[in-house]
Amino acid sequence: MPDTKMNVLGIETSCDETAAAVVRDGREVLTNVVYTQIPLHQPYGGVVPEIASRAHVEKIAQVVGEAMKGQRVDAVAVTYGPGLSPALIVGLNAAKGLAKSLGVPLIGINHLEGHLHSPFLWDAPEDATYANPDPRDLGPALGLALSGGNTMWIDMPAYGRYEVIGETLDDAAGEAFDKAAKLLGLGYPGGLKIDRLSQAWREAQVARGVRASALPFIPFPKGRPRDGVTALAGLLAELCVSFSGLKTALLRFVQQHPEAREEPELSRVVASYQEAIAQAVADRTRAALRRARYGALVFGGGVSLNSRIRAVLADVCREAGIPLLMAKPKYTGDNGAMIAGLAYYRRNHVADAMALDANPCLEVGA
Ligand code: KG4
Repeated sequence: MPDTKMNVLGIETSCDETAAAVVRDGREVLTNVVYTQIPLHQPYGGVVPEIASRAHVEKIAQVVGEAMKGQRVDAVAVTYGPGLSPALIVGLNAAKGLAKSLGVPLIGINHLEGHLHSPFLWDAPEDATYANPDPRDLGPALGLALSGGNTMWIDMPAYGRYEVIGETLDDAAGEAFDKAAKLLGLGYPGGLKIDRLSQAWREAQVARGVRASALPFIPFPKGRPRDGVTALAGLLAELCVSFSGLKTALLRFVQQHPEAREEPELSRVVASYQEAIAQAVADRTRAALRRARYGALVFGGGVSLNSRIRAVLADVCREAGIPLLMAKPKYTGDNGAMIAGLAYYRRNHVADAMALDANPCLEVGA
């Protein structure tokens, strides 16, 4: 019998991961290759665009070649924004050349919309019973994208349609984690380290008999924007966050309490900081869920791996009586599978990507 399934090759180079994957019919990941540049950027405490671009150029052929090995490719999909311009260009040019030489269509994909597809990806054969539904059966859903560069609440009236209804007015959630980690000497990127320290601290407190509802957190501000600020952005204040005050509060605390840089106080400080971010995210998500009838919360992006944010959002969704759809851990960060997967659903709605330029400021829903 002829194979009528559609294999899409997805290429992602928007930041510091060179990634490619082949996905069948939008969900089944056949291959997934991610080369992370984190060690190259670590000495600088953040991503250096020129280094990222050069590393993408060096690795793209190898990564794409590995992902394509033994696979039929019916279409090529590529991230064309948002992201770092010199990094995006590498993936886009590679994708254009490949689509042309294979004689298959090229589909341009928005990186953040890709993150919101990651909960629908599964691996054969181990996920034969993977529970997350087909995205087209969802009905209206609320999307939440938390990554190193973005923090957004997105109204998805139907799958493939997006409208941003809330966002951060300054730092993204991942950036807030990374800046705190830098300040506290925990290295880059810091989200995972803060998560692990916080989890261990919480478990130790509970083991000592402290109730989970009475943990001795430092009362850091919960990401509320200053009055009047959101009016400028044209978004509802109750759906926006601002993490700059939280970051300043941490800096002041550390200046006033030098012991905060050392254990055992360090773990309490990071757990309190993480709790402030988690409660800010939970609060805005509750507000967004009150605004409309949503059938699910679709949660994606590197920060969606955070154990505490996952736990508080699980509570929020339980209260609202809707499922929380999250990616398998390996698909939370940047990857080509989310780009290939979304392209399958978007393939009839996008213009010819051969004419596309990289767009570092590409808007969600554009
Ligand atoms: O989605 P991603 O791979 O890249 C962007 O598209 O930006 O996200 C990277 C971000 C980094 O800021 C990293 O610190 C954060 O995700 N991150 C975490 C965790 N794992 C990664 N933040 C909090 N908790 C985690 N477990």
